[in-house]
Amino acid sequence: MRIDHVAIAVNNLDEAVKQYKTALGIKEIEFETIESEGVRVAILHLNNSRIELMEPTKDSSPIKKFLETRGEGLHHIALETDEIESEVERMKGCGIRFLGEVRPGSQGTKITFIHPKSLHGVLTELCSHPK
Ligand code: CO
Repeated sequence: MRIDHVAIAVNNLDEAVKQYKTALGIKEIEFETIESEGVRVAILHLNNSRIELMEPTKDSSPIKKFLETRGEGLHHIALETDEIESEVERMKGCGIRFLGEVRPGSQGTKITFIHPKSLHGVLTELCSHPK
């Protein structure tokens, strides 16, 4: 596995992008809306990984709830694996709890989330990129 991205919840995506762009000197940024997860995402490409800034697109978005209770900040880390389905099965066998089934994520990826209680307080996304 490798760290695919680190995701940060923000109140105002355009403001946050401006700040991150300036602070990190990043030129290449992509935007994407993932309706199924209720988020709009800005993807900041680093040399070895990505930072994703996320803002909620609707009141029922889990990010909306996160911002209301915890405020802006680190939301999850994402680990990339080649075979997400078999990895999920293996991890379930070790007692790891998941939040939802494997489903489509951004840019053609497949994703699911590991319950933070299973990894000592860190919400962790498992993802695989299309081959
Ligand atoms: Co993510």
